[in-house]
Amino acid sequence: MGRPKITVVGAGNVGGTTAQRLAEKDEYEVVLVDIVKGVPQGKALDITQAGPVCGYSTRVVGTNGYDETAGSSVAVITSGIPRKPGMSRDELLTTNAKIVQSVVSELVSRSPNVILILVTNPLDAMVHVARRVSGLPKSRILGMAGVLDSARMRAFIAAELSVPGLDVVAMVLGGHGDTMVPLPRYTTVRGKPISELISEERLEAIVKRTREGGAEIVGLLNTGSAFYAPSASAVSMVEAIVKDQKRVLPCAVLCEGEYGLKDVVVGVPVRLGRGGVEQVVEYELTAEERAALVVSASAVRELCITVDCLMA
Ligand code: LAC
Repeated sequence: MGRPKITVVGAGNVGGTTAQRLAEKDEYEVVLVDIVKGVPQGKALDITQAGPVCGYSTRVVGTNGYDETAGSSVAVITSGIPRKPGMSRDELLTTNAKIVQSVVSELVSRSPNVILILVTNPLDAMVHVARRVSGLPKSRILGMAGVLDSARMRAFIAAELSVPGLDVVAMVLGGHGDTMVPLPRYTTVRGKPISELISEERLEAIVKRTREGGAEIVGLLNTGSAFYAPSASAVSMVEAIVKDQKRVLPCAVLCEGEYGLKDVVVGVPVRLGRGGVEQVVEYELTAEERAALVVSASAVRELCITVDCLMA
């Protein structure tokens, strides 16, 4: 059997870095797609040419079309416009919904068994758009947000306590926006609850910084948004799926009753394996945590209603 084919759509910072990280694994065929002439081809060549130095033999194919994507196991969709300083992710809705709509139909028509990982913002609403357009089962459409938001929280805690980030476990649920729901109760360092290690005040500051983690980077970069941690997060999801790892990671998926949420896409812990989303894992939540998740889901639902009207 050949290498599984992973397509990355969008050759901007997130897409280019995702393709690079995938190529470095030396286990996949990687196709990089973008509408801008030359850019996916140029980045694909550049990544391929790093192979002899870094020790991988992945040949990355860059293209402006979709024929090369046929037979993809997983496609990571990063295309769309990013935020500018001061903008919310929601302001990207109209433009990015149209882009995601066309990308998804191009992909699915050539790879009927593909699993789609959305990265484009506003994330949860884009998962909803992809569902509508593709007709794929909900197990094969998910969005990357919770892994990134949790990674930010882990990095802040690691810095605070001078421990390796790998030793920090955190879980951030909810929509990928101001209403996201970091769960300090499920945050541990080498098995110890975070509440025993950090003062309540410092923890609150970390939770706030996590919620605003994307905006902090947008403000610093001035053009574009974060891409190193987003691409790393997307790749961890690709690997969990392709390698059938059965990891439980927070991802944006359609909830149909889980956590009391009906027909709404929101970030929840899911078990990822070869079939994509194999199960939504229900953590026990306090009334307060549950309420925060409901508020977050309502914010996503409103965006989805807006996008449904746009696409009608
Ligand atoms: C962020 C953008 C990618 O959180 O949503 O950095």
